[in-house]
Amino acid sequence: MPVLRITKHGEKVLKTVSKPVDYQAIRPELPGLLRSMWATMRAAHGVGLAAPQIGLNIRLAVIDVRPGGKSQRLVLINPEIVQAAGEQDEEEGCLSAPGVYAKVKRAAKVRVRAQDARGEPWEMTGEGLLARAFQHEIDHLDGKLFLDRLPFTDKLKVLAIVKDLRKTWS
Ligand code: NI
Repeated sequence: MPVLRITKHGEKVLKTVSKPVDYQAIRPELPGLLRSMWATMRAAHGVGLAAPQIGLNIRLAVIDVRPGGKSQRLVLINPEIVQAAGEQDEEEGCLSAPGVYAKVKRAAKVRVRAQDARGEPWEMTGEGLLARAFQHEIDHLDGKLFLDRLPFTDKLKVLAIVKDLRKTWS
């Protein structure tokens, strides 16, 4: 299970809108790909990882926010938000911008529709951290980072931090 390099803020693959996954076409590679994504996410102590973060522009992400301290692994293939409600404004980070944190406004509650690792459709409503993770990972598939969601003045401050930290990133 190789731990892969995580792409970083500024790389083109993170700014590109990802293509829908053709489940039948990806099926032979999917188990190995998912093992690598879980291993990479765990090694980086993340709660989610999207395919562009391992250099692939396909609509695939994994999430495990460990509700109640227990693992709850979610595989999201071609995910979409079908409902969103409320607002939350919590601190957020990203494995593609390590060490950078900022408060980001998100919906408090979202319902997601996706396919799982077997290609089966599923839907789930998430609140709080899970709702945030759904929105954050789907943003990655649309070529957006959490920094792109910040008001202009906050973004300038955070980009100054990014500039300083960038030399420490691998
Ligand atoms: Ni991220």
